[in-house]
Amino acid sequence: MKPSIVWHEAAVSKEDRRQINGHGSAVLWFTGLSGSGKSTLANATDRYLSRLGVNSCVLDGDNIRHGLNRDLGFTEADRKENIRRIGEVAKLFVNSGQFALTALISPYRKDREAVRRMLDEGDFIEIYVKCSLDECKRRDPKGLYQRAMRGEIPQFTGISAPYEEPVSPELVLDSERWSVEDSVDRILEWLQERNLIPRGG
Ligand code: ADX
Repeated sequence: MKPSIVWHEAAVSKEDRRQINGHGSAVLWFTGLSGSGKSTLANATDRYLSRLGVNSCVLDGDNIRHGLNRDLGFTEADRKENIRRIGEVAKLFVNSGQFALTALISPYRKDREAVRRMLDEGDFIEIYVKCSLDECKRRDPKGLYQRAMRGEIPQFTGISAPYEEPVSPELVLDSERWSVEDSVDRILEWLQERNLIPRGG
């Protein structure tokens, strides 16, 4: 950090915001292969949270690469920067008393762990959307696996670039066996057990 730049404390703290909103705040960090279901699950969870009156927002890798991160590609360094920036944005949401639901492949353990360290203890909830590579290839919703296997997309995760599974994620969702509703229920239950969100009426 530059010595000439001074940090300003927020006038309204994260705790104040949580109090005002009547619920907790955290990052729900969905990680998994392309096609595993991260965006679907993040958006479905977002919809249920809004029904419970919980403030939340989805930060989707594909979408953010159209704007904030339009200058980034898929090298290891660019993915690291993609994740760092989205981590910083997610932190702003957490400090404003909201849930940030991020849907990024985020294939490298060390990059995800860097975001965890960027946040206060308990504010980073890693959700592994588990789906085999074979099933992702079969789904291939954007036709990208086909293209990657033809060698048309370099450094494609799962084909020509690695995906490192989380070691101890807070939640694992088996998107090959569970319905979207099953997974969303699991997430909501987890948040409710920790009093981060209200129980539905
Ligand atoms: S991350 O690795 O930096 O976390 P991110 O989630 O933002 O990736 O973007 C992944 C999406 O970009 C994929 O779902 C796919 O649609 C598209 N994509 C394009 N090229 C690649 C590539 N080489 N590897 C992975 N995804 C790619």
